[in-house]
Amino acid sequence: MSAPRLDVAAIKKDFPILEREVHGGRLVYLDSANTSQKPRAVLDAMARYYEQSNANVHRGTYLIAEEATAALEGARAKVARFIGASAAREIVFTKNATEALNLVAKAWGRANLHAGDVAVLTELEHHANIVPWHQLHDELGIELRWIPVLPSGHLDLRDLEALVEGAKVVSFAAMSNVLGTILPVEQLVTAAHAAGAIAVVDASQLVPHVATDVQAWGADFVAFTGHKMCGPTGIGVLWGTEAILDATPPFLTGGEMILNVTKEGFTPNEIPWKFEAGTPPIAEAVGLGAAVDYLTGLGMDAVRAHEVELTAYALRVLHEQFGDDLTIHGPSEAIERGGVLSFTFDDVHPHDLTQVFDEHGVCVRAGHHCAKPLMRVLGAPATARASLYVYNDEADVDALSDAIAAAADFFGASR
Ligand SMILES: Cc1ncc(COP(=O)(O)O)c(C=O)c1O
Repeated sequence: MSAPRLDVAAIKKDFPILEREVHGGRLVYLDSANTSQKPRAVLDAMARYYEQSNANVHRGTYLIAEEATAALEGARAKVARFIGASAAREIVFTKNATEALNLVAKAWGRANLHAGDVAVLTELEHHANIVPWHQLHDELGIELRWIPVLPSGHLDLRDLEALVEGAKVVSFAAMSNVLGTILPVEQLVTAAHAAGAIAVVDASQLVPHVATDVQAWGADFVAFTGHKMCGPTGIGVLWGTEAILDATPPFLTGGEMILNVTKEGFTPNEIPWKFEAGTPPIAEAVGLGAAVDYLTGLGMDAVRAHEVELTAYALRVLHEQFGDDLTIHGPSEAIERGGVLSFTFDDVHPHDLTQVFDEHGVCVRAGHHCAKPLMRVLGAPATARASLYVYNDEADVDALSDAIAAAADFFGASR
């Protein structure tokens, strides 16, 4: 049975920012891999929380403090259901995905890794899943190995078994933020476990776009970030199995992560609060819970089907219009990728391209996308990256195409 379709015209109306004009025209937002826009339901839920129930959590004995606690814990339960976690206590709220990945490296890594131990990454990782491991290399003397990326944008898995042999941790993105490539998560998790390593999945780009079932993946940790999935900034998620979260020492300390403190020492709280030092992002959790409700209402199968269709349209239209002048990196088949289109056009610098796009109201990011090792593999110091979400349609892709044509005219690129 085919997935129900998204009513994009109706969805656009859910996002107040899409009503505004920029440079005298409509706003064409094509930067959702960077951060997504927020539907009114999320903005309203956060405003309602502040207007009606604002209080600190887990401490008050009065009504609105109990409401605030229920709102925070209710959001945790929604997130757990959304990613197929077996219990809400497996959901740790962090500031963002970067903090979640740092938690894994700094708390689990420092407790479990020693000089000479191996961490395996892929060449397409975001810096958030590289630098914490570099720090452990410098601090503890761990060794980093890299799963290579092929020119097609897929991983080269021919030597996977040898690469993970003897490793203690295999940490990888579920979807590349530059190439859009969807990685074979279950295969990588299985290989990690067969080698005796834990598997850490950076699902920042996947969770907003593809129905996710962390138990089916079988990983040990999964990190993602609220602001790319219609939620607010300031909140991220680390999911871990109960066993690994229980066995991992606290990361940041103080406040809610404490059960008892004496002059001699401290006893940490139970999971997940053991990892949530200080006042948590309460309004942000409420917003994330509302974002989860919003995406659930759309249906994640419909979200994915829409993005595959729109990505296929974009790949076709852009290729037809610009041929070999436009290089789009990553897998050529829409079904193998998310709606992330990183490209270079002729010899025009991506920053120059996106400045012209801006004059046409088209928001596209240019740069290295926090994935410098991958950019070196691609042989491009920077790309322009257009990224699609539930509120984009063919007219937005056409606007991108027109903006590229305008930039080509402006810079006199050969066409
Ligand atoms: C694959 C990937 N991992 C991690 C991150 C970091 O997310 P945040 O900045 O919300 O911590 C990003 C954000 O661009 C990303 O694309």
